[in-house]
This record gives sequence, structure tokens and C-alpha cells, in this order.
Amino acid sequence: MAGTVAADFSQPNTASPTTVFYSLLIPAAILWFFYWRLSRRNLYKLAEKLPGPPGLPIIGNALDLTGSSHIVFKTIITKGKDFNDVIKLWVGPKLLVFLVDPRDIELVLSSQVYLDKSPEYRFFKPWLGNGLLISSGHKWRAHRKLIAPTFHLNVLKSFLELFNDNSRHVCNKMRALNGKTFDCHDYMSECTVEILLETAMGVSRKTQDQSGFDYAMAVMKMCDILHLRHTKVWLYPDWIFNLTKHAKVQVKLLDVIHSLTKKVIKNKKDAFSKGTRGSLATPEFIKPEEKFEKTKDENKKTIVVEGLSFGQSTGLKDDLDVDDTNDIGEKKRLAFLDLLLESAENGAVISEEEIKEQVDTIMFEGHDTTAAGSSFFLSLMGIHQDIQDKVVEELDQIFGDSERPCTFQDTLEMKYLERCMMETLRMYPPVPVIARHMKEDLKLASGDYVIPKGATVVVATYKLHRLESIYPNPEKFDPDNFLPERQANRHYYAFVPFSAGPRSCVGRKYAMLKLKVILSTILRQFRVHSDLKEQDFRLQADIILKREEGFQVRLEPRKPRAKQAAAS
Ligand code: HEM
Repeated sequence: MAGTVAADFSQPNTASPTTVFYSLLIPAAILWFFYWRLSRRNLYKLAEKLPGPPGLPIIGNALDLTGSSHIVFKTIITKGKDFNDVIKLWVGPKLLVFLVDPRDIELVLSSQVYLDKSPEYRFFKPWLGNGLLISSGHKWRAHRKLIAPTFHLNVLKSFLELFNDNSRHVCNKMRALNGKTFDCHDYMSECTVEILLETAMGVSRKTQDQSGFDYAMAVMKMCDILHLRHTKVWLYPDWIFNLTKHAKVQVKLLDVIHSLTKKVIKNKKDAFSKGTRGSLATPEFIKPEEKFEKTKDENKKTIVVEGLSFGQSTGLKDDLDVDDTNDIGEKKRLAFLDLLLESAENGAVISEEEIKEQVDTIMFEGHDTTAAGSSFFLSLMGIHQDIQDKVVEELDQIFGDSERPCTFQDTLEMKYLERCMMETLRMYPPVPVIARHMKEDLKLASGDYVIPKGATVVVATYKLHRLESIYPNPEKFDPDNFLPERQANRHYYAFVPFSAGPRSCVGRKYAMLKLKVILSTILRQFRVHSDLKEQDFRLQADIILKREEGFQVRLEPRKPRAKQAAAS
């Protein structure tokens, strides 16, 4: 034993590899930390001057983002009340700057510089790849140019029959509930998925079995997971997230979601290889008994679209407004998936993988937003019976006692219904925040503030739409907020449910037209009732604004007034 000890002392004192590793790692980490802090000194300096609630060291305001979705939403809204135009939040090392002044929002949304989505959108990547919602630079520009015209009014008008057909289908399903209270979001969700499949994708809902409903449910659960990652800072790194049970659920959900999109593309390609071109909107796909005659007048008439906002402030223009009045009935435009497949066949613009990403993007953006918008609308009609009366009166004036389908011209005459839709989008914007990554410092118009490069700017649509300085009595559901004279007195960027500028929503006109057909069809057949009031709404913003308790309504079958009078 003594000999062993003597031998140890005789050895030179060499450090183990682990000790060497840590003795190098620690100074390197400290050096890296100082370099990182130094490279962000502009960010810290400018952030210092921005107003915001106090936070804790290192984690900042991250604790405000804990709790259920509803609690997080409520906390942010409540804390935001103490601040005016600019609110700063630190979530760990991330600087978020919320904007609510329309002049500042214009600077961000109308810019060709601040076009990049914030890094948080990367959580969408496994789902949407590099689709239009998250892509940037040259790829985004080229694909936007390709896709925007597929939502041109001329294409949309050819979808009217399918909008009608699907609206009647969902009404039949809801009639079978016999006046029971139910969550209308489930029905709106399935209906909007099926409409997208038949219109933009050009595949029949009848070939999709249960998959439309399964898809809608999987999307809802995926949004829960993404929201969780957005609000829980420790779930940001992929390697930590991948250790959680949510990652395993995500794999299963993406399997459901991507199975549907792959099936859609395969069906469409098979049709292409058999020489079938065109969307389902071409008459041969529609059953003869479901076809309806367009009046000769309507086919000939140059439809006046002036004065129609299609969901944004009159006066704002984007790439969807190009040529609306000039090329009615002249240029042949293709629907979304038709165009993408043709473009892929013809060469360079888009690859097979990119088509899949775009289909996933349109399926998500196109369904969950409109499902939420229409569900809020129906809830509000149920609550505000006097306003529902006025919508019904307008519909009875347009349709009399006829049960005919709705035409494009009819949608132009639904002025009051449109105002109710806009007011719904004001108070309950389905996309309650829009986030951008700041590539450059931005000097704000509302005050002496500069948002530093590297920050995430959040356009707080929900709060903007409820500013008392813009909307007197902002918590009151008042469709007259969208009377032309009231709109004329507002800043263009005071109403941006579809965003605005170069990265505005490509589905804006599609959504407004589709919603008008679905909602008018429902209100022509039913009286909507709600037992809950707006004060009872437990809002949550897991990507899309929704109600925690669901959208509970009751439908009572109704007849047009003329028929009621004749019957009594
Ligand atoms: C009420 C319905 C809708 C609302 C409120 C809405 C709202 C929005 C908003 C706010 C954005 C900007 C998001 C951001 O910058 O983070 C957006 C983008 C987008 N929306 Fe919609 N949307 C609706 C319906 C639709 C529909 C029906 C489609 C397609 C059929 C669609 C496709 C898209 C796409 C592809 C983008 C990304 C555009 C780009 O970055 O170039 N949306 N939408």
C-alpha cells in the first residue's frame, strides 16, 4: 500500500481530458457570452428607451406567458392596457416590440425591407416547409407572383357554385341537430376544408371520406403545440422540444395532415395524366340536379366591384387588386393547384417539394382562419338579435322567397352582411398578431423611439382594432363602424385583419366571397341563438384567435319573410 502511494507521488501531475475540456470550455463560454452581449449592444441600448412592463433578470417577462392559452392572452391584454403605442417585452434573450399605432404599422407592413417573418415562424417548418407564409427573399417573391393570380376575382367567380353546394351541404348537417346547442366551429372547419379541396385544389370532397374532418382536427391540435412553443421559451430549442411528449404527438399529427395533402396532389396528378385539366368548378363535375342557371344578364354584365373593400380599408391596394375591373371574362386564369402543376410541368418556377409546401400552406391558412371568422360571426349574430334582424331583412330583400343559390351579383348587394363581417374581423381578428424580423433599425412615426435591428416586431391587430381613439366605444359590436363615411375618416392601416402591403393575405378576396356565400346561406335557412354573451368569451390566441369554451350556438329553422306571411 505504502509502495502504491509512493508510486503515485512519483507520477507527473497530468490533468484528465475531462478537466482539460472544462477548463477550456468555461473561459470559451464566458468569452462567447461577452462577445454576444457586445454584438447586441445596439439592441440593448435602443430597447432601454422603449416602454414596457418590468421583467426579471435573464428570463425577462417570460413568466407572463405561463398558464393556459386563455390566461396568457388575458395577461398580455391586461398588461398592455398600461401602455400606449409601443410595448416592449423580453422573453429570455428575445426582444418583442408590440405596435398599435396605425402610422407605425404602415411603416412595417408597407415596407419592402421588413418582409422577413420572425424566427418564431420556424416552428411551422416541419409542417409548412418553406411555403408562402414563412419563406423569404427571392423564393417568396417568385412564388407570390405565381400564386396571387390564382385567387383573382375571375377565378373566384367560377367557384360560386361550389361555395353554394358546400354551404347547402353544411346546412343540411346542422339541420339534423334539431335545434340542439353545438360548437359551430367544428362544422365551419370541416366545411372550409372541403371547400378548399374542391376549389383551390380541384379534388372532390366526396373522394376524401373522413379525411377533411380528421385534417381539421389535426390542424387544431398542431396549433396548440405551436402556441406552446411560442409561449414557453424553454421549448424553443429543437433538441429540448424533441425530448417532450409534444414532439411525438406532433409527428402523428403531421402524418394525418401530410397524408391529406399528398393524397390531394396525387389525385390531381392522376387527373392531369389522364388529360383532365381545370378545377372542379368546370360544369361537368357538378351533378345536373345541383347545377343552376346563371342568368344571361349575369354572364354578360361587367360586374361593378368598385366600393367593395373585400376585407381591407378602401384606398389600400395590393397585388390582388390588379386588373380586377379590366379583364373580367377575358384572360383565362387557372385555379391554384392547376397552375402549380402546370408550372412544374413547364419548367423552372416550382419543384414537386415546393408544390407540397404550398399546398400545406394554403390548406392551413385557407381553412382555420375562415373557420374562426365564420364561427365568431355566427356567435355574434346569436348574441345581437337586432343586428341579425337587419341582416335577415337584407337577405330577404335580395332573395325574396326563392331558395335559389347565391350569385356573385347577390354578394355585391350584401352590404349590411359585409359590414357585420368586417366588424367581426375588427373585434375578433382570426390572426390576432403578425410578427416580423427587423433587419434594420426602424424609427417610429408615433414617437421618439427606434426599434433595433434584431428585434421581433409584433403588429398587435387585436389591440389596434380596439383603440378608443379610432373606434369610439370599441368594445361594442357596431357594424356601422364600416359605413363608408366612417371608413373614410380612418387611417388605412387602422383595420388590417388580412395584414396589408406586399405580404398581405393572398386569400383575402377568396375568404370574403366564400364567407358571404356560407353565412348568407346559413342565415337564409336558420335563426341563430346564443346563450352566452360576449363578456363570457374566453379568448385564446393559439396562432388563430378562438374561444376556449368553443363556439356554442343553437339554430332554429326559419323561412323567408314572404313565405312566413303567406303561411300565416
Ligand atoms: C378570414 C380569413 C383570413 C384571414 C383573417 C387571414 C389573415 C391573414 C394574415 C393576417 C396574414 C399575414 C400573416 C403574417 O404575416 O403572419 C395572412 C397571410 C396569408 N394568408 Fe390569409 N387570412 C384568411 C384567409 C386566407 C385564405 C382563405 C387563404 C388561402 C386560400 C389564405 C392564405 C394566406 C397566405 C398564403 C398567406 C401568406 C402570404 C404571404 O406571406 O405572402 N388566407 N392571412
